Amino acid sequence: MDKTDSALSKILIIDFGSQFTQLIARKIRELGVYSEILSHNKSNKINLENVKGIILSGGPLNVYQDKKIKFDNTILKKNIPILGICFGHQIISKEFGGKVKQSKFREFGLAEVIKIKKSLLLKNFFDKKNKSKVWMSHSDQVTKLPRGFKTVAYSKNSKFAIIENSSKKIYGVQFHPEVTHTTKGKQILKNFLFVICKINRNWSSKQLKKKLINDVRSMVGNKKVICALSGGVDSSVVAKLLHEAIGKKLSCIFVNTGLLRKNEEIEVVKTFKKRLKMNLIYVNAKNIFLNKLKNVSDPERKRKIIGNLFIKIFEKYSKRVKNVEFLAQGTLYPDLIESKSVTGSQTSKIKSHHNVGGLPKKMKLKLVEPLKFLFKDEVRKLGLELKLSKEIINRHPFPGPGLAIRMPGNITKEKISILQEADNIFINGLKSNNLYHKIWQAYAALLPVKTVGVMGDNRTYEYMCLLRAITSEDGMTADFFSFNKEFMQNISNKIINNIKGINRVVYDVTSKPPSTIELE
Ligand code: XMP
Repeated sequence: MDKTDSALSKILIIDFGSQFTQLIARKIRELGVYSEILSHNKSNKINLENVKGIILSGGPLNVYQDKKIKFDNTILKKNIPILGICFGHQIISKEFGGKVKQSKFREFGLAEVIKIKKSLLLKNFFDKKNKSKVWMSHSDQVTKLPRGFKTVAYSKNSKFAIIENSSKKIYGVQFHPEVTHTTKGKQILKNFLFVICKINRNWSSKQLKKKLINDVRSMVGNKKVICALSGGVDSSVVAKLLHEAIGKKLSCIFVNTGLLRKNEEIEVVKTFKKRLKMNLIYVNAKNIFLNKLKNVSDPERKRKIIGNLFIKIFEKYSKRVKNVEFLAQGTLYPDLIESKSVTGSQTSKIKSHHNVGGLPKKMKLKLVEPLKFLFKDEVRKLGLELKLSKEIINRHPFPGPGLAIRMPGNITKEKISILQEADNIFINGLKSNNLYHKIWQAYAALLPVKTVGVMGDNRTYEYMCLLRAITSEDGMTADFFSFNKEFMQNISNKIINNIKGINRVVYDVTSKPPSTIELE
């Protein structure tokens, strides 16, 4: 949220480049308060109207690297409550005459802070032994207390882990209250917002919707926007949001790759074109995809072919929309940070993920990415606020390359339809047994092996179906879901009895890692 909404009271977060800055904003939203993030090098342009508190984020810099830190320190003297986190804690210390030095022990990970004195910031923070678990990530530390400040708590390696100047309402914590590993971190933010800044709750999905719609309107004006709609949560929420914001100036393009779940294309057309009356360009590209994928069994080649074809088709059909200037995408915040490791270096490539997020730069369209500061659960809540059906909002994730990567080996029309049927039986079984929402993602896959079976008195020689159901927080790690025998037996019977082409069902009991969620 880096646009100003002058009507709302807010918390201003000054970002010094921490990977957790968006997490601070997210925690504040969770507490029902509006916040804005401003980069430290723009802090000389701050409009402090309606700012009820300032948070200085962490960051990779050293407080004495003056040239890199473009920070207008006069904001520290405006009588607005301030909370410094990690680097923010160090900068407060330096600005008020304390000292910061490289620590002998770099602290990364869990630590314990021990109470020295009472503080408004720390209401309900310490346990009965006056201790609290926190998450540290720093190599510099405060070595001399700034003028007018008191130490509130210390840790084994940080003498000044929490400091305050209570009369000026300035606070500094060496650790990160915004991460879940800091057990009572949210309590610190809560105390800062409501006890110290005395800000009122003013933020909800309803407010978020209003703000995003206004932002889209002022960005897009009278121009036209296209959006690649997949039927998944993120693109559906973006499409609905844009439709509310700009109505018929939005055109969605839905490409039926032929690799979708059973009846998916019918559902998408029914929801977006018939019910919501959006401009929807439906492209039936089943045969094109099938032809290009003929005899291709290498997973990466499949992914590349599908990704490239998708882009080509999207480009072709977007030309049919006259005077388009914008491309809307359902990029979420985790999508932006996913390719970076904790240290900021690139992670090794496991799979080339294809989704509409990878759409062509050469199309020279300006991007509209209204969800790019949000996390998945916030997008789901926004979707409900936009009155999208629970069916769409709570759908399991589905990969861009679709069934192609749930079918190791060659792809044929026959295999696709066998797989669609098996998947449909499995998913319906989960829904009717109230299991669907307990599972993060589930699907059926078709393995490229045939095995012998017996049905009636006859020998069969057919494909093997693999079922996968996992629990996860974010798809980065996963564990398999435990079903009871009766459920498994039921599903297995239904699949084998109803689908010609499958005579054996297996359940995948690997976690991620070592396996991935999809087979390819
Ligand atoms: P893996 O298989 O990498 O999957 O453990 C993690 C999550 O990402 C989804 N996935 C994709 N999503 N395009 C997408 O939009 C892709 O190419 C893609 N590949 C995997 C997968 O379904 C799971 O939720």
